[in-house]
Order: sequence, then structure tokens, then C-alpha cells
Amino acid sequence: MTAPVLEIHLSDSDAADALHHDVRVGLSADPKWLPPKWFYDARGSELFEEITVLPEYYPTRTERELLRRSVGQIAARSAVDTLVELGSGSSEKTRLLLDQLAATGSLRRYVPLDVSESALRAAMAAVAREYPALAVHGVVGDFTEHLELLPASQGGRRLVVFLGGTIGNLLPAERTGFLTALRAALEPGELLLLGAGLATDPAVMVPAYDDAAGVTAEFNRNVLHVLNRELGADFVVDAFDHLAVWDAAEEWIEMRLRARRAMTVQLPAVGMTVHYAKGEEMRTEVSGKFRRDRLGAELVDAGFGDQVWWTDPRKRFALVLAEAA
Ligand code: SAH
Ligand code: AVI
Repeated sequence: MTAPVLEIHLSDSDAADALHHDVRVGLSADPKWLPPKWFYDARGSELFEEITVLPEYYPTRTERELLRRSVGQIAARSAVDTLVELGSGSSEKTRLLLDQLAATGSLRRYVPLDVSESALRAAMAAVAREYPALAVHGVVGDFTEHLELLPASQGGRRLVVFLGGTIGNLLPAERTGFLTALRAALEPGELLLLGAGLATDPAVMVPAYDDAAGVTAEFNRNVLHVLNRELGADFVVDAFDHLAVWDAAEEWIEMRLRARRAMTVQLPAVGMTVHYAKGEEMRTEVSGKFRRDRLGAELVDAGFGDQVWWTDPRKRFALVLAEAA
């Protein structure tokens, strides 16, 4: 087994600058908002893993079943030497791909990229232990900024996987920028495997983001713990209620935090004092749910030609394998 390599494109001070910027922009906007990437400190990453096994949270298990079904075909199309994974988290479902790609004999390297260094380190150590023949090259980075820094293939091709429906956490303009940048970072013939939630019955989608055990509520409020710790802020975390709302026009689930009472919050590291009215709602995440035709067209517009799609029988989730044209 070769020791895993960790490359850091997002240092603590880069992350601090980015957080300061996002908080200045988001908390001075009306309505207030925060980007979802700040959920994922060590605790947030653990809470996300808890979410993935909740009875209401269908995306992870649906995607895992789709991977199980499609992995043979994916591997047959993907004689790749490098598997890159964006927003890799625990790399749990990735094992299905690693098993199959390792069996084809061409795979030599796994490159997980995540903003959450704690999740990345744990996943890298586990993958390196379980796949001793594979070189593991982790990257602490932001997939909206650092795609051009991804390691090149080792003479063959790369498969980039972006699972979980995380593409839905990007706003539409960010998504266009992301897909264009990803295509620009790939050589013709390299592959993208994308997991995306599909628009389905709100009675199914909303409980997935508002579970009975309150894990998603804790995940949502975790962003306030992050701001308290990183910015010296004084949010009273329990004074915010968790909300999950289906926005039918935008076709996304929106998570919000609603102030239970009027509050004034100090954020010394960014020199801000922020007021919340009683009942005021702040957006903390969008989770876009897609229609096949539109997502397929977005991929084509970004320069991904040939596409193979898999969906579950209830059409709640899709996997698409697309080739850089
Ligand atoms: N792919 C895994 C994890 C999904 S959770 C799965 O399917 O279960 C989303 C992951 O993306 C988290 O690990 C989070 O830390 C990471 N993430 C969120 N925003 C990111 C960004 N802008 N750049 C890189 N990683 C990000
Ligand atoms: C990581 N991402 C795809 C999750 C989602 O479903 O949008 C994050 C999440 N938010 C609430 N629950 C899970």
C-alpha cells in the first residue's frame, strides 16, 4: 500500500477569507442567505452521514441501488486510470465503483476532492486500507473553484463522479459555471458520472428534508455553530427553527432557519451586527430537483455529448454517464 497523498488547495486562511466574504454578502442581503458548503465542518459531515440512513431520506439509498444496477455498464464504458470524485464525503457509495473498476484492471488512482478535510482524511484512510493496490490522492478544495487543478490522467482517461445530488445544491448560475469549468478541465473522451435528484411528489421530497428525528434540523442549525466558532459570533442556535419548503417555481427544496424571536447578533471577525426580526427566514440551502430533458440539455450546452441515463422505477433519482465531447 502506498501512503495516501493529501493536496491542499483550500488552506485554513483561504477558507476563512471565503467564509468572511460569503457571510458579508449573505447576511447583508434581503432576504438573508448562506451558501450550503459551510454546513460541512467535522460535525456537519457526521450529521450528513446520519441523514443518509434516515427512513425519510431516499436519495442516498436510491442512488446506491442505481449504482449497483449500472456499475457493470459504467465500468465497461470506462477503461479509466483515474477516478476523481467531487464532494466525496465518506466515499461510501464509491466502493461500488472502485470494486468494479478495479476488476477491469485499468484503475490506478482515486482522487477524492472535498471542502471537509476531516471527512476527506477519514475516507482516504479507509479507501487506502481497503484498496491497497490503489494510489489515493486526496484534494482539499472547492469544486466551484479548483477544477483546473485536478491531477491529469496517467496516460489514459479519467472518470469524474459527482454523486449524491450535490449538483442540486448549486444555484442555477453556479451550476452552469460549474459544468462549463468541469468540461474545460476534461479532455475529449473523459467521462462524468453525475447523480441528480429528480422532481417528484412534494409529499416525498419535503419529509426527506424535515425528518421526524430532527437530524436535518440539527444539520441545518450546524451552520450557526460554524459561524459562532469561526467568526466569534453569538447566534443563539436554539432560537432558530428549521424549515424545509418545496419551491415549485424553482423546483428546489429550500432549507431555511427561522428566528423564533427578534435578535441582534454580533459577528466580530467580519465587523457585522445583524438584526433578525421575529419570524424572519434565512435561506441556508437549495436542493434542486431536476427534469431529465432539461438537465440533459444543460450537459450538452456545457459540452458533454454522449449520455447514458439510469433512473429508479419511481423516477426519484437519476445517474447519467456523459462523455466530454
Ligand atoms: N458524495 C457524498 C457526499 C454528499 S454531501 C454522497 O453522495 O453521499 C456533500 C459533500 O460535498 C460534503 O462532503 C461536503 O463537504 C462537500 N462539499 C459541499 N460543497 C462543496 C464545495 N463547494 N466544494 C467541495 N466540496 C463541497
Ligand atoms: C449533499 N446534498 C446533496 C444534500 C441534499 O440532499 O441536498 C444535503 C442535504 N441537505 C439536507 N439534507 C441533506
